[in-house]
Amino acid sequence: MANLLYSQVALHADYGGVVPELASRDHVRKTLPMIKEAMEESGTASDQVAAIAYTRGPGLVGALMVGAAIAKSLAMAWNVPALGIHHMEGHLLAALMDGTGHSSSPEFPFTALLVSGGHTQLMSASGLGHYRLLGESMDDAAGEAFDKAAKMLDLGYPGGPEIARAALQGQEGRFKFPRPMTDRPGLDFSFSGLKTYTMNCIAELKRKENTLTDQDRSDVALAFETAVVETLTIKCRRALEETGLNQLVIAGGVSANVRLRQSLEEMAKKLNASVIYPDLKFCTDNGAMIAYAGYLRYKLDQKDDLSIQVKPRWPMDSLSA
Ligand code: KG4
Ligand code: ZN
Repeated sequence: MANLLYSQVALHADYGGVVPELASRDHVRKTLPMIKEAMEESGTASDQVAAIAYTRGPGLVGALMVGAAIAKSLAMAWNVPALGIHHMEGHLLAALMDGTGHSSSPEFPFTALLVSGGHTQLMSASGLGHYRLLGESMDDAAGEAFDKAAKMLDLGYPGGPEIARAALQGQEGRFKFPRPMTDRPGLDFSFSGLKTYTMNCIAELKRKENTLTDQDRSDVALAFETAVVETLTIKCRRALEETGLNQLVIAGGVSANVRLRQSLEEMAKKLNASVIYPDLKFCTDNGAMIAYAGYLRYKLDQKDDLSIQVKPRWPMDSLSA
């Protein structure tokens, strides 16, 4: 009915990453006015609200606490349940939401690749709240690697879209970056070595040329993006083969990457599987996905106690329906 977004990108851009204290303070300033605006835009009165969903975790504790405090206070005032939602479950379920521009709606069971600034995980989802972790990053998330690589190349923040844009002008084959952990079995990832590799490659260019040209930036961006995309594709292929499932849902900010989508689609076609992702604006962080996850859980009669605490760390395979 309404889906408003206030981005803190400009607030954090100067720092090349999220500054926790600034993030929390901005949540305090913006959240209530935005809730009011969303209710006005959708013509919803407070007595028409059946439940309130909020992000309980994982994430930065300060920002989570602001959201939880507001959600619980409103829930108490309006006498409705407040449902604490897992951020990554929100991403995962976004693909099931109607009206999000996806090609088809997945049906349980399916495999999911969750790739954001904080997570890189492969899951098998057999039903709402029933997720099995197949593999995850041993160190940095893919999105974090995109952001850091962009920073090293003096590109903007957030790094993912900037790397993708620079890579469009890149020359194929000038550099070949490693595909971490693809030469051994298993579905885990590692992206920190790729960051070091990128750093060394840039240092070498600067040493040789005394500077970094736009062409250098594009070539490094392309090599980096290709390495991440191929690594994710190889692991997704393995996950589909190992689970025998034929639907792959991709979610989280990095799933907005066009090259990743193309590569996964090509791979899935060969396996007679389908790749499902929501419209771009529902891939990166958004409120609708949390509301939708809350709606599904509300229908299952979930009632969280108002005394539950936020969970900055919260493994997704510990959820239940
Ligand atoms: O899910 P998200 O919006 O926030 C988190 O929960 O982390 O994901 C943000 C991440 C950032 O690291 C950003 O660089 C990355 O998603 N991202 C992309 C693209 N758009 C956003 N990475 C690669 N290609 C993109 N087009
Ligand atoms: Zn997210």
